[in-house]
Amino acid sequence: MDRKKRVFSGIQPTGIIHIGNYLGAIKRWIDLIPKYNCIFSIVDYHAITVMYDPKEFPNKILEAAKVLVASGIDPDKAILFVQSTVPEHTELQWILNSITPIGDLERMTQYKDKKQQNADNINAGLLTYPILMASDILLYKGEVVPVGEDQKQHLELTREIVRRFNKRFGDTFPEPQTLLGVAPRIKGLDGNAKMSKSLNNYIALVEEKDEIWNKLRVAVTDPARKRRTDPGNPDICNIFSFHKYFSSEEEIKKIDNGCRTAEIGCIDCKKILAENINRTITPIRERKRELDSRDNEIRDILYNGTEKAKSIAEKTMDEVRGKIGVKF
Ligand code: AMP
Ligand code: TRP
Repeated sequence: MDRKKRVFSGIQPTGIIHIGNYLGAIKRWIDLIPKYNCIFSIVDYHAITVMYDPKEFPNKILEAAKVLVASGIDPDKAILFVQSTVPEHTELQWILNSITPIGDLERMTQYKDKKQQNADNINAGLLTYPILMASDILLYKGEVVPVGEDQKQHLELTREIVRRFNKRFGDTFPEPQTLLGVAPRIKGLDGNAKMSKSLNNYIALVEEKDEIWNKLRVAVTDPARKRRTDPGNPDICNIFSFHKYFSSEEEIKKIDNGCRTAEIGCIDCKKILAENINRTITPIRERKRELDSRDNEIRDILYNGTEKAKSIAEKTMDEVRGKIGVKF
């Protein structure tokens, strides 16, 4: 029988979902829904590894759920739930903690980066973060995991955990496959680092039209192009790279040529981009605005997702407990 494969992915409720998250992951999630059994989680326990405001946190979780639904995650066709509402995630993590060498965790680039960014709060959760991520996926025996490039290394580690577990306790988990997004690594508006919430170099997925322009107006372009009359080089211009995801082929050709010949300036190029980003995200922003007054419906969607996720998670945990010898 041709069984639909299982997809799992997660996003942290850290406030803002930006166009990097959308192009790197969420757009791919939506494409997969018709062909796979999809489970998507708002991973709140991952987000508490950095400083956060517990009073604001419930709103952030709800906000993330609204943006996901507004983007096109249909809760009738995919499971959408909050990680902490299925306690089996942390239970499985404890077990996987015990088969994961610390050295493997210390090698993770994200851990090294976060250690630098959070020098006053280097907690054990930052180190074991990828084991919780492995637990998220394995609890549902996820086979395909759509993520941005920054998560590739964590998925390598997940596969190693699978191999180690299966070898020691018998075949239990499939090795999940990484599926990169449409744009696996979008740079921020500074043209330097990866677009991210913490660096404030993003355009939010529900950004207002004026705000898109305010942000693009000052965004970095080809650094060598100092004057309007200088020819530019689209190959190294960060703004040009955004056009590839939001503008038509015809527009891209025109801009490429116009920039190289100095026929058009950076401001003209940015105006076209602002228009096109706005056109793409307007339907999402409008659906999100409608959902803003429907908190209870969103909560129901999430509770419903919890029930469905829980029934799968409980089965896996029962099997795992048996395999590791803690079932009497
Ligand atoms: P996070 O917000 O860290 O939970 O990330 C959610 C998803 O978005 C993950 O699959 C990330 O890999 C992806 N992602 C985050 N930032 C970017 C970026 N700048 N470019 C592409 N994908 C990204
Ligand atoms: N660590 C991921 C990120 O920061 C989010 C995440 C948590 C995730 N659990 C996951 C992604 C499981 C895919 C599968 O982006």
